[in-house]
Amino acid sequence: MDIKIYDKLAKKYDLATKIVSFGIEEVWRKIFIKNIKKHIKNGSLIDLASATGEMAKGLNFDKAYLIEPSRAMNLIATEKLKNKSEKCEIEELSSSKFQVPSWRIKCGKKEIIIIQDTAENFNIDEKADLITAFMAFRNFDDIKKASRNIDKHLKNGGYLAVVEMVKSDSFLAKLILWYMNNIVPLIAGVLVGMKQEYKLLGKSIDSLSQEDIIKNFKDYEIITKKKLLFPIASMVIMRKNDTKDS
Ligand SMILES: C[S@@+](CC[C@H](N)C(=O)[O-])C[C@H]1O[C@@H](n2cnc3c(N)ncnc32)[C@H](O)[C@@H]1O
Repeated sequence: MDIKIYDKLAKKYDLATKIVSFGIEEVWRKIFIKNIKKHIKNGSLIDLASATGEMAKGLNFDKAYLIEPSRAMNLIATEKLKNKSEKCEIEELSSSKFQVPSWRIKCGKKEIIIIQDTAENFNIDEKADLITAFMAFRNFDDIKKASRNIDKHLKNGGYLAVVEMVKSDSFLAKLILWYMNNIVPLIAGVLVGMKQEYKLLGKSIDSLSQEDIIKNFKDYEIITKKKLLFPIASMVIMRKNDTKDS
């Protein structure tokens, strides 16, 4: 995915998403977080394609790594998460730490580290209890490589939670897809001057099936698998085998 599109969109991303999805994406996020919290309430989190940091904000884990290749998105996430509490301190980490630009936000005992990298390439010397990918997979250039990297960074017994817009044959899904491909670019043109870019983003929506994601995690146990409110978004929560060699 061309990161320049997201760099350009970053400042208006939250507002544009709210408007073009009629607030539905927020509902999806709430359902997602509620389902995750049934299985795991705190610990260490890696959020992939973290954009402006909404997922880390919603989950509020003690330790969170945000992986996002767009610098503009990261700068917004940094401000947003720092502003959560007056007691937060922010520090730009030296490039020797992760070999890419990165920031640490410390709020009391909570620590958030934002790393400017892709799901395929990020490398941290820690494994997480939970990895989240909300509307993330379809942006990855190499899903197999990203999946291997996810597996490498998840503890045995840890959870991988995914929400993605996927192919669906239902009439409602087709109607939503038509809206995304034809109406959303018009609204985005007026709202953020990004008609062509939203046309490109719309095209990527129909490119994945849920199976394309799940098949990369063969020996994970599927704990929850369902369509979210509108059939075009689907959620899957998987648990990594306790005894899997890593
Ligand atoms: C639809 S947004 C994700 C929304 C976000 N997860 C949330 O909770 O609001 C897609 C994001 O994927 C990022 N992205 C693009 N290519 C990526 C890659 N290879 N690895 C990780 N993130 C990527 C983009 O920069 C963009 O911020």
